[in-house]
Amino acid sequence: MSDGPGRRAFEGIEGDLNVSPERAAWAGRSIGAETRQWLEEDARYFLHQALSTPCLDVLAGCGGIYLEDLEGRRYMDFHGNSVHQVGFAHPAVVEAIKTQLDRLSFCTRRYTNHAAIELARTLARIAPGDLGKSLFCPSGAAAVAMALRLARAATGRHKTISMWDAFHGASLDASSVGGERMFRGDIGPLLPGTEHVPPPDAHACALGCGGRCDLRCAGYVEYVLEKEGDVAAVIAEPVRSTPAIPHPEYWPRIRAACDRTGALLIFDEIPHGLGRTGRMFVGEHWDVRPDILVLGKGLGGGILPMAAIVTRPDLDVMADRALGHYTHEKNPVACAAALATIRVIEAEGLVERARALGAHALERMREMAARHRLIGDVRGLGLLMGIALVRDRDAREPASREAERVMYRALERGLSFKVSAGHVLTLTPPLVITREELDRALAIVDDCLTEEERA
Ligand SMILES: Cc1ncc(COP(=O)(O)O)c(C=O)c1O
Repeated sequence: MSDGPGRRAFEGIEGDLNVSPERAAWAGRSIGAETRQWLEEDARYFLHQALSTPCLDVLAGCGGIYLEDLEGRRYMDFHGNSVHQVGFAHPAVVEAIKTQLDRLSFCTRRYTNHAAIELARTLARIAPGDLGKSLFCPSGAAAVAMALRLARAATGRHKTISMWDAFHGASLDASSVGGERMFRGDIGPLLPGTEHVPPPDAHACALGCGGRCDLRCAGYVEYVLEKEGDVAAVIAEPVRSTPAIPHPEYWPRIRAACDRTGALLIFDEIPHGLGRTGRMFVGEHWDVRPDILVLGKGLGGGILPMAAIVTRPDLDVMADRALGHYTHEKNPVACAAALATIRVIEAEGLVERARALGAHALERMREMAARHRLIGDVRGLGLLMGIALVRDRDAREPASREAERVMYRALERGLSFKVSAGHVLTLTPPLVITREELDRALAIVDDCLTEEERA
């Protein structure tokens, strides 16, 4: 890595934020004066926070599966904050936004508009079972807050069960049901009554199943639901981003336990709903219908902030109380973007595409696992994929530094992705990706693993 101007650009920030050597090496790469200047300005004017600052690069464009930086470098984006089911700047979504801007750009409260109604009707058509009533808001955290509020009102109870290590948003209420220290720690009291249970993750089972799930995690949730007896809701992602794919009987058992004890089941499908896993909604893999479905991220077509809850008509119980009350509740431009996004997903067969390409990628990743000693296991559900790196397959010691180095090596070769749980290369490409592009990206990962194993 160069010791050039880039390093100087980051000196102060690195010192302040205690970034890893891998991160510092990335910052120290040779970058142009203009990029350096913008990065310095970013550091000067934005509040710093974990996971967001210091920034990796300055973007100047995005389209399809690519991000492009100021210096014209292109990255295949296998992270995309999970907003990019239809890729970036999909022409149909851009066109719908432009058309809507010319027609009606805002909708004041107590009025309604075509785009919002059409979107609610479309969600009712595609959502599982009888989920047919929606409310919109501008962020996933806000939608989670609405789901929690609705569960309280509908059940007359306030307790929740959620998963350790989960993320449901950065607001205080969403952090209360979240299970990550980063969002829960050192911030004072969170919501009361939020009980946490071990997630259904056989690769890191807190209850000691040793990788062969025997559903003790489901038994534990059943136990807590029955002991408490007055839980308002179980809230969880049906598949976690790591990804950790639960035993096929997990969600059917939790659904039945919720029904027995009068708790609602809230599925947070903000990152993985709308096709990523090879089904329109994740719960469909196990034929489990939640009482409240929470959507966000890609609902805005990778362009606008947009989130929603979709629920059963009989849970429409807050007509005389505030449930969401967001300024942009029925924003016609965001609704037009969401509507166009769903149309693209349907018209381009992106759900089926995610299923087929995901199966192809999993096969290639298994073949890579046979060659690379660093790979502990590979996972995939549609185009939600993970490659867990370990120092030793038997001891399963996470190879965190190696994972981070592989990530930066890949970034240098034009592939961007995230490392989850400290050691899992998490690959979530846009669903519009071609098989050739997917193969190219996996070849980059393959090469970077080879380099890391030789280093
Ligand atoms: C599972 C899950 N829920 C909720 C959220 C919060 O969404 P937002 O950032 O739009 O508030 C996220 C965002 O990463 C998420 O992954």
